[in-house]
Amino acid sequence: MALGARFNELFERWAEEYDSAVSGGHPEYREVFEGYAEILKTVVNELALPPGSTILEFGPGTGNLSRLLVAAGYRVIGVEPSAAMRAQAAAKVPELELVEGHFLSVPDSVPTVDGIVSTWAFHHLTDEEKDRALADMTRLLRPGGKIVFADTVFVDEQAREAFQKEAEDRGFLELAEDLRREFYPVIGRLEESFRKAGFLVQFRRMNRYVWLMSATIA
Ligand SMILES: C[S@@+](CC[C@H](N)C(=O)[O-])C[C@H]1O[C@@H](n2cnc3c(N)ncnc32)[C@H](O)[C@@H]1O
Repeated sequence: MALGARFNELFERWAEEYDSAVSGGHPEYREVFEGYAEILKTVVNELALPPGSTILEFGPGTGNLSRLLVAAGYRVIGVEPSAAMRAQAAAKVPELELVEGHFLSVPDSVPTVDGIVSTWAFHHLTDEEKDRALADMTRLLRPGGKIVFADTVFVDEQAREAFQKEAEDRGFLELAEDLRREFYPVIGRLEESFRKAGFLVQFRRMNRYVWLMSATIA
């Protein structure tokens, strides 16, 4: 299936309920989204670029991070494949410049930027696609630019399997299927993706599932 459309149906259906899920309304995803608001704030703080800087956000969803970025004084361009998510984000953050696209398909109209951010979205790419996306980002970023991501990452294969089994044992079948279906990376392989693309990256754990990734050009 083409990458742009791979998980699109899921997000078209999820758009209206999404904000309830991130605030604890979906019991299976409570740990995945634990500290959601704090994690978004940490992404903005970690970016620490001068006000007026241009930030590219991949997969803004309903616009919760976009809203904080706009409030911090940034120009924000959101690349979002789901029309339903774009509609939610546009209603919430009128200042957000939204374009249809995805990690591997950024419209030519998007300029080079000072920072690239993404939360709970990079795992939609396979490891090889993550390599390509990060290589593309080196061309999108201006000198001195930064990447800050937050997403589910596993320490190693053993941890990934343990989390899958735990979800099944808890009867969290939706989460268990998600953990098998999507491309949640292990930290070593993700570090390699950043390094191969020419980035220096640092990882910091945010909750049981989510890690903050902060990268600059080496
Ligand atoms: C779990 S939501 C996260 C939304 C938001 N970033 C947040 O933190 O609440 C994932 C978002 O990524 C988008 N997405 C899925 N595949 C994508 C891709 N290949 N490139 C960019 N965005 C993608 C989805 O449409 C959805 O809006």
